[in-house]
Amino acid sequence: MESKRLAAVEAVKEIEDGMVVGLGTGSTAYYAIVEIGRRVAEGLRIRAVATSVQSEELAVSLHIPIVPFAEIETIDVTIDGADEADGELHLIKGGGGALLREKIVAASSKRLIIIADASKVVERLGKFPLPVEIVPFAYELTLRKLAALGCEPVIRQKDGGAFRTDNGNLIVDCHFGAIEHVKALGLALHGIPGVVEHGLFIGMADKLFVGQEDGAIRELAP
Ligand code: A5P
Repeated sequence: MESKRLAAVEAVKEIEDGMVVGLGTGSTAYYAIVEIGRRVAEGLRIRAVATSVQSEELAVSLHIPIVPFAEIETIDVTIDGADEADGELHLIKGGGGALLREKIVAASSKRLIIIADASKVVERLGKFPLPVEIVPFAYELTLRKLAALGCEPVIRQKDGGAFRTDNGNLIVDCHFGAIEHVKALGLALHGIPGVVEHGLFIGMADKLFVGQEDGAIRELAP
């Protein structure tokens, strides 16, 4: 979609020679990786790390140098999409199932730039069901704990079976409706054994580029 691509191209302008770049996952991050590939072909010299097998494969196909985590000291900037972003730039991520790797990479990035179309900007997070990555062991018990937090938990399906993340785990889409206290919910989710990580990215994003229908780009900061 054009508005996603416009936001992605704008964000990629922030990448400079010598940087270590985190590559996000999803249909918006796809455009960013393609644009980075175009600039690499033109001579941009960067090293990159990826947040999913899918993004890594795309990057490799575009000759973007992917380096092992052991070889980098820091990640200068990560460009990624989001499923929802509120006015404080708190996010819901994980619609593509890559939230754990995305959060690990984001947490070690000097800057996290989010790219999105206008449909992702919301007043309050939660209309999009919150993805939570859980281990398969005794998932029935973990589901009960999640439900006790006030949501309807649904195990994500794909191709007739449970969806598995790149880490071999399950994703539970938690239907909360509008989330009133994002920080408290984040803490409560971390308190459940069996939960590996959740898709609330609280206070992590530094900038949001929103591609508008009319071709303009809105830049938001927390
Ligand atoms: C991947 O797990 C997600 O966090 C994506 O970044 C998010 O779902 C946004 O995806 P789209 O850009 O495809 O909407």
